[in-house]
Amino acid sequence: MNSIEERIKELKQEKNAVILAHYYQCPEIQQIADYVGDSYYLSKIVKEAGQELIIFCGVRFMAESAKILSPHKKVLLPVADAGCPMADMADTNKIKELKKQYPDAAAVCYINTSVEVKALCDICVTSSNAFDIIRKLPERKIIFLPDRNLSAYIADKCPEKEFIIYPGYCIVHNKIMPEHITELKIKHPNAPVAAHPECRKEVLALADFVGSTAEILSYAKSSDSPELIVVTEEGIRHALEHQSPKKKFYFPYPQMICANMKKTTIENVLWALEDEAAEIHIEEGLRISALNCLKEMHRLGN
Ligand code: 13P
Ligand code: SF4
Repeated sequence: MNSIEERIKELKQEKNAVILAHYYQCPEIQQIADYVGDSYYLSKIVKEAGQELIIFCGVRFMAESAKILSPHKKVLLPVADAGCPMADMADTNKIKELKKQYPDAAAVCYINTSVEVKALCDICVTSSNAFDIIRKLPERKIIFLPDRNLSAYIADKCPEKEFIIYPGYCIVHNKIMPEHITELKIKHPNAPVAAHPECRKEVLALADFVGSTAEILSYAKSSDSPELIVVTEEGIRHALEHQSPKKKFYFPYPQMICANMKKTTIENVLWALEDEAAEIHIEEGLRISALNCLKEMHRLGN
């Protein structure tokens, strides 16, 4: 262990801090984290963890969700401009218009959204619980935002619902085309394909399994296959290889790397712990309006 990691460990103890990291973070961040998970798991851990200081290694909407759920805790996002371009695609004025246009629809937002967007919606979902939650909603019409690919995937699985789909997408997952997968399948014909639902419909059609990052990890663990084609951000490779060191994992080209997830370095984590400057602040009225969305997700989710 080098001195930066030692210092992080000392400060963590001294300050009673906890480090949370998403699977898309760099391996060295995942190694020093107390909890590594998908966005749903991390949103639950925030409340369960006893520590009052949370270092959230991920992107802004994740740290904001932590603050919404645990207002009395100090939540730090080590790199202030680590955002999510898909979350930025959800425009509050357009959402207000859609709600006016479809007053009897449930407004469902992906957790990849700002506090302002969550404050306008009825319930929040993640890729691991979207299907379970949406099918439980009493409303037949669903305004789903901002990910058009996840919406289309859930809409196919819920034919009893009518989806009003918002045109957002993840720049990392959406760039993968079916031919990138078929190229890999030619090279590795026996490897099953596991893909994240933020991928295009035509890509998901080629997948043997579709799920969130945590679900892809479970699938890889239980699969009898010694090799797997994985269609999501490459940060997940660290957890996949740690979990199944004998299996081989192939990722598509062009590389799936979320530049925002990769902004956080080990030094940023140390600096965040040292000066506690990168704090998430949310105006209380806005936080309360956004809280319902996340509470509803935890009530109806698994
Ligand atoms: P998960 O919900 O699978 O963690 O995904 C979050 C995300 O940002 C995917 O791009
Ligand atoms: Fe946002 Fe996509 Fe990066 Fe996830 S991978 S944080 S959805 S840009």
